[in-house]
Amino acid sequence: MSAAFSERAMQAESAAAYTPPYPFRSESTPPLWELIGTARKNFLAIWATSDFSNKTMNHKILTRQIFICNSPESVKEAFVTKHDIYQRKSPQMRHALEPLLGDGLFISDGEIWQQRRKIVAPIVHASRLPQFSPIMVDTARAMSSAWRELGDGAEIDALTQMAHLTAEIISRTIFGQQLGHDYADTIVKGFTDYQKAIDQMDITSLLGLPDWLPRFRRPSIKQKVKAIRDILDDIIDSHQSQQPTEESVLSRLLDAKDPDGKPLSRDAIANEAAVIFMAGHETTANTLAWAWYILSQAPWAAELLHDEITTALSGQPPTIKDVPRLPYTRAIIEETLRLYPPVPILAREALNDSTIMDRPVKKKALLMAVPWLLHRNPEYWDYADEFRPSRFLPESKARPSKHGYIPFAVGPRVCAGLAFGLTEAILCLAVLAREFRLELASDADIKPVCRLTLRPGNALPMIVRPSVLPG
Ligand code: HEM
Repeated sequence: MSAAFSERAMQAESAAAYTPPYPFRSESTPPLWELIGTARKNFLAIWATSDFSNKTMNHKILTRQIFICNSPESVKEAFVTKHDIYQRKSPQMRHALEPLLGDGLFISDGEIWQQRRKIVAPIVHASRLPQFSPIMVDTARAMSSAWRELGDGAEIDALTQMAHLTAEIISRTIFGQQLGHDYADTIVKGFTDYQKAIDQMDITSLLGLPDWLPRFRRPSIKQKVKAIRDILDDIIDSHQSQQPTEESVLSRLLDAKDPDGKPLSRDAIANEAAVIFMAGHETTANTLAWAWYILSQAPWAAELLHDEITTALSGQPPTIKDVPRLPYTRAIIEETLRLYPPVPILAREALNDSTIMDRPVKKKALLMAVPWLLHRNPEYWDYADEFRPSRFLPESKARPSKHGYIPFAVGPRVCAGLAFGLTEAILCLAVLAREFRLELASDADIKPVCRLTLRPGNALPMIVRPSVLPG
């Protein structure tokens, strides 16, 4: 990147100063009953202005202590130094996902987590991107063709489009190109139905009631789980009977051995395939959807993005080798992940009595880092609520600290698909923005909402336009 481009980017964002939407912030914390009601609808709406700048917060809801880390130091202590004590996912998360993921990596801890992490992380590691990136580019190019067919002025739901794009990419990655393509729609529907049926704000766990207490679960959840597991079984069967020649995540899971040299059980294979599918598509889809929304409101950034892509790619579709030549595209994705972290809460259950920043944290306490707060803490970020991608450019002096910017979490439980997700978002944005820009539909009112992940409401109506800006 030239110094001139960087300078131009900084000038453009200072001159235009764009603040993307966030929920109303009260001056002081509302009463508990009101907070719980709001949290069930939108977890992002419960925070008062002062919560963003507090370094740690300590609350009690009936018997349950809730401790929030909101500084790089406290995050490092909890998620890195004291990983052993704070490695267990929160009861809410475990209860919400256990019916679907069983003992899968995402919600396990202790020995099982260690074993599975050793098996799963290398399968989706950065070193495997040369194999996976052509799937990303091909799938995004197929979406380009579909948009071209729709024509200038067509209205799309960008959130659904991005969900289809990333679901097809992860599906082809896990199950192989053909099976992944064939099953993508059915399996996406299964996961979407499941997410709608579960309720992340499991009040029983929040209030500190014991794990063995039966929880209310809608009967439909069992059917949704069965529907997904049946599909996974089918795919594993076809994989075993057809012995596909191409390598996929599934073929690697089928070949994997545990530390005793035994293959993974069929259940474990299905659990880990479900983990990667679940963890690996909605997060990237939401990131891309938010990036499109922000670009539609910040035309100066769309113009800089288009200039970078045109210069770096000289009219050709990108490959993995082009990613280092797209620092502004990457900065847009990283700044989008700062403002709208798809996983806005990282919650853990303390396994023992301990301390964070010398303050006592009791066994069974709910410990959280909330990227939504940390990424907007005015102590660590200038213009914290503004969209300023240049802070992520390589020459920026304001690059964030490792433990203060955590869209992929941090420490031993850091996202196993970090490089996959980041590269996928960059390549998909580059392929699509090379040809198109998206304009917000005139009647759309977009607000961030958080249930399991942070998303721009239920839909993002946008108009497809050619990328060359008028004038
Ligand atoms: C922009 C995209 C993504 C974001 C923002 C993201 C974010 C995260 C976060 C925050 C966690 C930790 C959650 C917690 O501690 O409670 C996580 C875990 C995980 N992610 Fe991602 N992720 C993304 C894409 C992906 C992709 C593409 C894959 C797979 C190909 C993936 C696989 C995983 C796995 C397996 C875990 C569990 C790791 C463990 O517990 O050891 N993620 N992700």
